[in-house]
Amino acid sequence: MDMDSGQTIYQQLGESAGLLSIIETFYGKVVQEPLLAPLFPEDISPVIERQHQFLTQFFGGPPLYSERHGHPMMRARHMRFPVTNERADAWLACMNAALRENDVEDELREFVIARLKGPAYHFVNTP
Ligand code: HEM
Repeated sequence: MDMDSGQTIYQQLGESAGLLSIIETFYGKVVQEPLLAPLFPEDISPVIERQHQFLTQFFGGPPLYSERHGHPMMRARHMRFPVTNERADAWLACMNAALRENDVEDELREFVIARLKGPAYHFVNTP
């Protein structure tokens, strides 16, 4: 639980359907972002599905990702891609825009971005 509301972030984002809408908006931006698009497969739907499972559990919902794929080891799973600081910035900017477009209120949006910043810069593996 977070932000003293008694609700998980997952609940505050609208549970499964709310999170899915945000993630679909997010990947719509990622595939248009010149720094990020080349890293992703043409068919983005499996990525959307795995991200939905992951962020569900990351934000306090059921552990869907671990149930299906085992330990997240997210930094390791990103090692085969050249993640630079600029790409982490771009990833976070796409997420910030996706949250805005899904009418997530400012305080919650900023909290979500702050929670994702740690992992994003931790995944940087290329100068
Ligand atoms: C820092 C910039 C980031 C870049 C450039 C990046 C890039 C990528 C790429 C290229 C993939 C693989 C797509 C494929 O399946 O071919 C991927 C998968 C994924 N990313 Fe990221 N990512 C970033 C940050 C993050 C963050 C911050 C999170 C969550 C905290 C995240 C969660 C995931 C998940 C859950 C997957 C699917 C993993 C799987 O295959 O099971 N990524 N990412």
